[in-house]
Amino acid sequence: MLKFCEKVLMKVKLYKHLITNDIYILFYFYLTKLLKKIKIKLNWLIAAIIILICKMPIKIIDHGSAQYQQMIDLRMEILRKPLGLHFEADDLEKEKEDILIGAFEDDDMVACCVLTKLSPELCKLRQMAVHQRMQRNGVGHAIMQFAENVARDAGFKTMTMHARKTAELFYEKIGYAPHGDEFIEVTLPHIEMRKKLI
Ligand SMILES: CC(C)(COP(=O)(O)OP(=O)(O)OC[C@H]1O[C@@H](n2cnc3c(N)ncnc32)[C@H](O)[C@@H]1OP(=O)(O)O)[C@@H](O)C(=O)NCCC(=O)NCCS
Repeated sequence: MLKFCEKVLMKVKLYKHLITNDIYILFYFYLTKLLKKIKIKLNWLIAAIIILICKMPIKIIDHGSAQYQQMIDLRMEILRKPLGLHFEADDLEKEKEDILIGAFEDDDMVACCVLTKLSPELCKLRQMAVHQRMQRNGVGHAIMQFAENVARDAGFKTMTMHARKTAELFYEKIGYAPHGDEFIEVTLPHIEMRKKLI
């Protein structure tokens, strides 16, 4: 319990300066990680306090910035390299038109996704990736919530995506439903999934 409290205090100190800045989303992935380790109910109370105090920055980043380079590196590591694939310069150039989202721990990008306008009402989520060491800690869920809010604010009514079959359940858990048949993309089985935002 002492160690737990020390970790909480450390995180509070670490993120205190961020609370007044920009847009941030609850830092609950850290909490869930700790809760997995220590299984006593009192922790749920402490957990609620952490949720209120600690925050993890998730923000929109600029195309061509140093943070965008971090995003490319993360996408390369998580999505492309395992398949032996690369990014085409043309495809990255087109992302100037997209909404680029990153989640950060300190200054390091730990998760990202991209929103592409398909029509005034339809938004496509792409390039969803969470750093290997941060997976299954709630980061993916948090960045999805942020992305959906951004899309809603931009006036989109529906979110769509080409989901890897291996990630289908992740999207299902946050309200996405299959739309159409399976297909192959970047060598892997995919399925289109959709969710009404409004
Ligand atoms: C898929 C991915 C984005 C999910 O992000 P994450 O941070 O690991 O997921 P979270 O911890 O927020 O998980 C939220 C819930 O979905 C579940 N979940 C996460 N990934 C899952 C998967 N691949 N299959 C089944 N369930 C999954 C979690 O267990 C959790 O369930 P719970 O709420 O019942 O505890 C991430 O694991 C990842 O980047 N994977 C590799 C790249 C990839 O597949 N990207 C998606 C391309 S479409």
